Amino acid sequence: MDVMRKKSVESLLANATPLKRTMHTWDLMFLGIGAIIGTGIFVLTGKGALTAGPALSLSFLLAAICCGFAGLCYAEFASLVPVAGSAYTYAYVAFGEIIAFIIGWDLILEYALGAATVSAGWSGYFVSLLDSGGIHIPTVLTAAAGTTPGVHTVFNLPAFLIVLVITALLSIGINSTKRVNDTLVLVKLFVVLLFIVCTVWFIKPHNWHPFSPFGVYSFHNGSAAGIIPAASIVFFSFIGFDSVSSSAEETINPRKTLPRGILLSLAVSTVLYIAMTLIMTGVVHYTVFANYLNEPVLAVLHATGQNWLAVIVSIGAILGMTTVILVLLYGQSRICYSISRDGLFPRFFGSVSPRFKTPFKGTWFFGIVTALAGGFINLNILAELVNIGTLTAFILVSAGVLWMRRKYPDMERGFRAPGVPFTPIIAIAFCVVLVAGLNWETWVRFLVWFALGMVVYLGYGRRHSHMNDGISVPALDDMV
Ligand code: ALA
Repeated sequence: MDVMRKKSVESLLANATPLKRTMHTWDLMFLGIGAIIGTGIFVLTGKGALTAGPALSLSFLLAAICCGFAGLCYAEFASLVPVAGSAYTYAYVAFGEIIAFIIGWDLILEYALGAATVSAGWSGYFVSLLDSGGIHIPTVLTAAAGTTPGVHTVFNLPAFLIVLVITALLSIGINSTKRVNDTLVLVKLFVVLLFIVCTVWFIKPHNWHPFSPFGVYSFHNGSAAGIIPAASIVFFSFIGFDSVSSSAEETINPRKTLPRGILLSLAVSTVLYIAMTLIMTGVVHYTVFANYLNEPVLAVLHATGQNWLAVIVSIGAILGMTTVILVLLYGQSRICYSISRDGLFPRFFGSVSPRFKTPFKGTWFFGIVTALAGGFINLNILAELVNIGTLTAFILVSAGVLWMRRKYPDMERGFRAPGVPFTPIIAIAFCVVLVAGLNWETWVRFLVWFALGMVVYLGYGRRHSHMNDGISVPALDDMV
C-alpha cells in the first residue's frame, strides 16, 4: 500500500458538492476575524508582556509576518484546490496520503486543543465578571492545576461547561449563522476599539523604557525570554485565519476572494493587536501583568480607574471568545469528518446522524475530549502545543506550494503567491524560528502526539483508506 498515493485536483473538484455560493471578500474577512481575535489578545498578552516587556508589540509583528507569508502560501494552495477540507485536503493532492494524515492530525491539535485553550481564556473573564456581580465560584474550580502561582486550583469548570454547551449546539446542527457571526464580530471589534480609544490617553511613555528588557532571545529565571519566545506564544492570536479557506465551496470566485479574505483578516487583526499591546505596556509597567495573567486587559482598565469599561470589555471578550470556540470546534468536526470519510479514521467519527445531519458521534467524542483538556490542562501548555501543531502544518503547506510550483508549473491558479520560491521559504524560516522559541517540553509533547498519530495511521488508516479500493472521493461535504 502506497502511503504517498495522491488525490487528483480534478477528482476533488468533480466531487465537490455544489453549495450555494454567497460569500464575498467582506464576508470572508468577517469569518476570519471571528476566528482570529480571542484568547491570544485577551489573555496571552499577559504572559507575552512578561516574556518580552513592551517589545511584545514587535513579537506580535513577528508572528503576523510569519502568518502573512504562510497565509500567502495557504491562499495559493486554497485557490489551487478550492474545495472544503483545508490543509488536509490540499496535502492529499500535493504530497499524498501520509503527509495529508499528518497535517490532519496537526489540525486536530490546532482546532480541538485550540478550542480548549480559548475555553480556559473564556473562563478567566467569565469568573471575574461573575465576581464583580457578587457571584463566586470556588477557586479550586476556576482553573487547571498550576495555572496561577500560589493559588490552589484543580479543575476549570466554566471552561469544561462552555465546551460542552457549544458541542451540544454543533451536534444538533446549530452553527453560528453568518448573521450571528457578523454581529459578534462587530461587538468584538467595537470592544477592542473602545478599549483603544478610552485607554490611549493614559500611556506613560516611561513604561516603555527599556522597550526590550530581554532582547531578541535570552534566558531569564531558567526560561526563554525576549521577542522571539513571546512571538512563539502570541502566535496563537493569529490562529484561525486558515479557517477562511474551508469555506471555499461557498465563496463567489474563490480563487480571488479567498486570498483577499485571508490577508485582510490578518491585516486588520495585526493593526489592532499592535495598537492594543503598545497601549497595554504603555499604561502599566509590564511587570504588573504578573498579577493579571488570566485577564491582562483588566490590569489596564483598573489602572485607569475605568471599572465600567472593564465590565463592557469582559462581556465583549466573553462573546468574542465564544465565537472562536464555535469556529474551532466546527472546524474540528469538519476535519474529523473528512478524515473519516476518506477511511483514515473509523467510520464512527464521520457517520452522519440522519436526524440532525451532523457527524453527531464524532462531534461529541472530540467535544468531551476538548472539554476535559480545557478543564484539566493549563492554558499556557495548551496554547504552546496548539502553536507547534499549527506551525508544523504551515511548514508543510508552504513546502506544498514550492512542490506544486515545481511539479505543475502551468496548472491554473486563481491566486499565485508573489515572490515564489522566496515566499514559502521565508514562511518556513519564520515558522522554524517560532518553533525554536517554544520550550523543549512543548517539543516533547508534540512528538508524543505525532507518534500517536503514526500509530493510528499505520495501525488503521493505511489499511482502511478508501484509496485502497479505488473508490473515488465521495461528495466533499455531505453533511452541510
Ligand atoms: N486566534 C484565536 C484566539 O486568539 C484562536 O483565541
